[in-house]
Amino acid sequence: MARTSSQKIEHMQSVPLFAQLSRRHLQRVARHADEVAAPAGKVLARQDEMGRELLIIVEGQARVERDGHVLARLAAGDFVGEMSLIDHKPRSASVIAETDVVLLTIHSRAFRPLLDSVPGMKDRILVGLVERLRRADENLIG
Ligand code: CMP
Repeated sequence: MARTSSQKIEHMQSVPLFAQLSRRHLQRVARHADEVAAPAGKVLARQDEMGRELLIIVEGQARVERDGHVLARLAAGDFVGEMSLIDHKPRSASVIAETDVVLLTIHSRAFRPLLDSVPGMKDRILVGLVERLRRADENLIG
């Protein structure tokens, strides 16, 4: 789905990962972000494959599944797929669209440079990872 740059930036502003960015930094990220639509049921990232992009859900819902077990449900504003881009190992889980979705994707090539040059982005990714670990710990204890 092709979107104009201003629509893309509008969508980026609705996502916590980017919401605090200045216009200049939003534009920098937008240059490396593609907006794509996918139908319900589509596998957006596949467990054990190498990851090529960060996925940010703009509209719709998805689930994270490992070996057929649901680990998490994702909604608009959530990002996913960062782990492979950080440690260069295969995807830890699959991500499957539960409804029709609209995503922003950032290719692995651009991910590191953006983390290093866009203020606050690294922190937000880090906080997202910590939140996930806390939830996983809670789920472990029950
Ligand atoms: P990655 O391993 O690249 O691809 C699968 C993604 O699922 C992973 O990055 C995380 O973004 C996400 N993920 C993995 N485990 C969990 C979890 N327990 N809770 C939420 N998201 C997860």
